[in-house]
Amino acid sequence: MTETSGITVRFAERDDLDALAAIYAESFDDMQPRLAVEQYLRPPGTWALIALVHEPPHEMPAGFILTRNAADEAEIFSIGVARAFRRRGVGLALLDAMDGVAGVRGARTIYLEVGVDNRAARALYSKAGYEIIGERPDYYRNPGGNRVTALVLRRHLENIENRDSS
Ligand SMILES: CC(C)(COP(=O)(O)OP(=O)(O)OC[C@H]1O[C@@H](n2cnc3c(N)ncnc32)[C@H](O)[C@@H]1OP(=O)(O)O)[C@@H](O)C(=O)NCCC(=O)NCCS
Repeated sequence: MTETSGITVRFAERDDLDALAAIYAESFDDMQPRLAVEQYLRPPGTWALIALVHEPPHEMPAGFILTRNAADEAEIFSIGVARAFRRRGVGLALLDAMDGVAGVRGARTIYLEVGVDNRAARALYSKAGYEIIGERPDYYRNPGGNRVTALVLRRHLENIENRDSS
């Protein structure tokens, strides 16, 4: 579907579920990663992309994005990159590919929520051109049991060129 500097992004299929669950387990604190991924993908309009990093002669599953289109909006439920492949552009490649698919399926705006304390994800979304439009206090509970505020982020698909160049 897309191929940039050794990173291929394509639709995830049923056979990719184990790979998605393994990356999800590394990325989130969840005792049942496979079930979590399956549940995200159950409602109508949901879809997933998988990123593969080309390390000859192999293509290694490196990341995923779980999303949903509804009318002229899309929502990112979850994005995760395997630890071994972080800071190599996989997250950005997934967001780029998602733009294309979500747009073709009718989305004009993409929304997501991110923990206020999630430095890596906030930096990624900022680089991808997302803006903060609101917050939900005490939305998440972190592994230590503390409540964490979620920021609500949005990006208009017309603003694809509006990227932070830093
Ligand atoms: C957030 C996450 C998906 C980023 O994936 P990634 O593949 O490492 O991101 P990229 O390599 O595409 O990074 C793109 C840019 O985002 C920013 N960024 C990413 N990770 C960062 C970090 N740990 N610290 C600071 N900035 C970071 C940088 O600006 C980076 O560009 P640069 O490497 O040229 O400086 C990954 O860290 C992850 O899976 N985290 C755990 C799961 C998670 O929190 N998901 C988000 C839930 S909302």
